[in-house]
Amino acid sequence: MIYLDNAATSWPKPPMVARAMMGTLLKLGGNPGRSGHKLSLCGGRIMERCRELLAAHLDAPSADNVIFTSGCTEALNLAIRGSLYKGDEVLCSHAEHNAVMRVLKSLEAEGSITVKVLRPDGNGIISPEILSAAVSPRTALCVLCHASNVTGVVQPVEKLSAVLKKRGVPLLVDAAQTAGILPVSLKRLGADMIALPGHKGLLGPHGTGVLVLGPGMAPRPLTMGGTGSLSESMLQPSSLPDRYESGTPNLPGIAGLLAGARFALSHRQEIEEYEGQLARRLRDGLRSIRQLRLLGSDAVPMVGVVSFVPTLCDPGELCDRLAREGFALRAGLHCAPSVHQWQGTLESGACRASVGIYNTEDEVDRLVDAVRRMLSGY
Ligand code: ALA
Repeated sequence: MIYLDNAATSWPKPPMVARAMMGTLLKLGGNPGRSGHKLSLCGGRIMERCRELLAAHLDAPSADNVIFTSGCTEALNLAIRGSLYKGDEVLCSHAEHNAVMRVLKSLEAEGSITVKVLRPDGNGIISPEILSAAVSPRTALCVLCHASNVTGVVQPVEKLSAVLKKRGVPLLVDAAQTAGILPVSLKRLGADMIALPGHKGLLGPHGTGVLVLGPGMAPRPLTMGGTGSLSESMLQPSSLPDRYESGTPNLPGIAGLLAGARFALSHRQEIEEYEGQLARRLRDGLRSIRQLRLLGSDAVPMVGVVSFVPTLCDPGELCDRLAREGFALRAGLHCAPSVHQWQGTLESGACRASVGIYNTEDEVDRLVDAVRRMLSGY
């Protein structure tokens, strides 16, 4: 199989990820942070190492500001639902995933908040001017998708955060498609909170994610329960990370994330360059095929996500035919209807190929050849 669905989850993982996960299951059967015996303490140390590694790369104020979640979706829910109050206004981009859009729209439907969806320029970019014009005295939060999971377009978050800082509006960045690939940190992006998955660019397993909290960020917890700390209190502890981490943690997942993130973050720049090169090759190849339309814009920075719409057949049908020949792509709306609406592809959806560290130029060329051959039959 030629796996080109790394925007959904990266695969394969570096071999040490599975080894680390197996190691916890075979040797560390305890519950981290709960007991004083060796198995519990060792589990706790793995979690601390992972927190420290991520905190250093994300410029977190402390390792305890790295909150483990079940994925980027839970991290976004916590940051959004936990931060807003009745009457607040929230800004977001046209490129938000449903992990943001559905949360915001459901709060709006309840009458709690109002949502302004920012419209980009022709290249899919939200400029500082567009953002600045939208901020009002009621704006309580801005949520920005760092890179679209459909077009791959990267927003100039560093410039946008400067606008928000001046107006006193906190920024939550959804780094689902960029963590582990582009430089992502609170300081570099000027963000107040960053939500990210463990299982994409950080090369960890499914079911892992992180919310990193910048100074002063204290969303209300959405889940309460046992933390192994302050058990005499019937109230949720206020200290980090326990305030947000109730229940038995996903130790095998976090051990896998530690192994994956160590690999990804120590090779991040090479990964950025390599995936960028593969994506450019793929775009160039697909651009030479008449019967399709490429989404995104080469005039702006993009990650390795390449979506295209065949003009004479359904994208789902094309991806099914590709799947029968061993190519793994994702068709449809990619849980991001708003960006498809903007691109005019809400009805059709698109085919999406997303590259990863184990893809090769030969695989990219084989996909282009297969798409060309299949579309020439219409
Ligand atoms: N959000 C993931 C994707 O884009 C699952 O496919």
